[in-house]
Amino acid sequence: MLLPLILTAGLTACVSAQFQTLRFPCSQLVTERLDPLVTPGLVSPHLHQIVGGNAFNITMDPARGNIAEISTCTTCRFKEDKSNYWTMVMYFKHRNGSFIRVPQIANDFTGAPNGGMTIYYIRPRAPSKNLSVTAFREGFRMRVGAPNARSNTYDTRSGAVNQTTFRCWDGTGIGPGTPSVGALDSVQFPAHQCKGGIRSQVYFPQCWDGVNLDSPDHESHVAHPSVGKVDGGGSWMFGTDCPDSHPVRLPLIFMETVWDTKIFNDKDLWPADGSQPLVWSMGDPTGFGHHADYVFGWEGDSLQRALASDRCVSSLPENCDVLTLQNDKEINQCTQAPVVPEVTEGRYLEKLPGCNPLQAGPEPATTVANCDAVSTTIVSPKPTLV
Ligand SMILES: *[C@@H]1O[C@H](CO)[C@@H](O)[C@H](O)[C@H]1NC(C)=O
Ligand SMILES: *[C@@H]1O[C@H](CO)[C@@H](O)[C@H](O)[C@H]1NC(C)=O
Ligand SMILES: *[C@@H]1O[C@H](CO)[C@@H](O)[C@H](O)[C@H]1NC(C)=O
Ligand SMILES: *[C@@H]1O[C@H](CO)[C@@H](O)[C@H](O)[C@H]1NC(C)=O
Repeated sequence: MLLPLILTAGLTACVSAQFQTLRFPCSQLVTERLDPLVTPGLVSPHLHQIVGGNAFNITMDPARGNIAEISTCTTCRFKEDKSNYWTMVMYFKHRNGSFIRVPQIANDFTGAPNGGMTIYYIRPRAPSKNLSVTAFREGFRMRVGAPNARSNTYDTRSGAVNQTTFRCWDGTGIGPGTPSVGALDSVQFPAHQCKGGIRSQVYFPQCWDGVNLDSPDHESHVAHPSVGKVDGGGSWMFGTDCPDSHPVRLPLIFMETVWDTKIFNDKDLWPADGSQPLVWSMGDPTGFGHHADYVFGWEGDSLQRALASDRCVSSLPENCDVLTLQNDKEINQCTQAPVVPEVTEGRYLEKLPGCNPLQAGPEPATTVANCDAVSTTIVSPKPTLV
């Protein structure tokens, strides 16, 4: 009993020194090749992992109702969070050319979720001038990252440059430093075997134009804060003030997924030339196409209330007395059946699901013409005015 308590105390001290955050796991809801937020013609639908409320639906039609109300369960630790969070999926490419999905494992200090993600809602901190946040509204959605990117083309002085990263766990623990700028972090896939597996990390933009719940590219209604370091070792993701074009400060959503790559740490399975064998499901062998999507779905004002409570932003869900906790059994029981009829995991596949051949870049990936895979995308949802 002593060891976990000490570790937990250590985590709290360490995390709260860095930032005030709501932090909780959401186990896997479904993995399938559905892609509501693709810009049609730009990227081919590819396999995604989705966590959160079970009202996830490709139509994302607001006429279906409020997903916080029509979900009957959620895979998140807090019962009030029926949001959907999704990212692409990692595959391992065997030296014989076949692909197998990399399984996920629970993150540190999250209990025993069936894989999935760890979600953070982080408060702004000084020297940002405006320390109050406005929680998202019903119908809000956004994407971060570019699925067809095969190099990091962001300005090195912009917050976007480190918005998606990997941490190569060396087997000794969660690793040093703020996620994205720690010594074990990289924007591309780690170039060598990681003893403890790989944690993928995503920061969403935290400034909103205050008007549009979405935009045609699912990005331009939100922005990162102006660059400016908040502390010596910290990431510029945390600082500082929102630009005039996007003045409303949102909570900073950060998410992590832990991929059990250590089961493939066998040099006889790796390519003979030692090249990196991990790929994202959209045919990305570089890691630069790393992206994630969010659809807000908290019940009522529950997120705003949680963020106003110092106990909730202590990083330990059990301290948060304004929300309702679910145990591991409850979150793992909430699942959705995939609607796309294809095998995506559990065995080696000749090619990645859909029409997603590997494209290494560095120029952006292009969409395969005449794709004969089952179509799983729809016309991009229109932006909605408040
Ligand atoms: C998605 O929602 C539509 C209504 O907009 C409904 O007809 C369809 O059955 C739903 N699909 C799933 C998989 O829930
Ligand atoms: C590659 O090896 C795996 C594991 O042994 C096997 O399942 C798969 O069929 C092989 N693929 C090819 C193309 O030989
Ligand atoms: C991006 O990360 C690198 C470390 O990997 C760091 O040196 C740099 O300052 C970061 N840039 C921004 C804008 O956060
Ligand atoms: C401070 O942030 C709040 C919440 O995002 C916003 O409503 C308000 O307009 C901001 N105030 C200033 C002075 O920027």
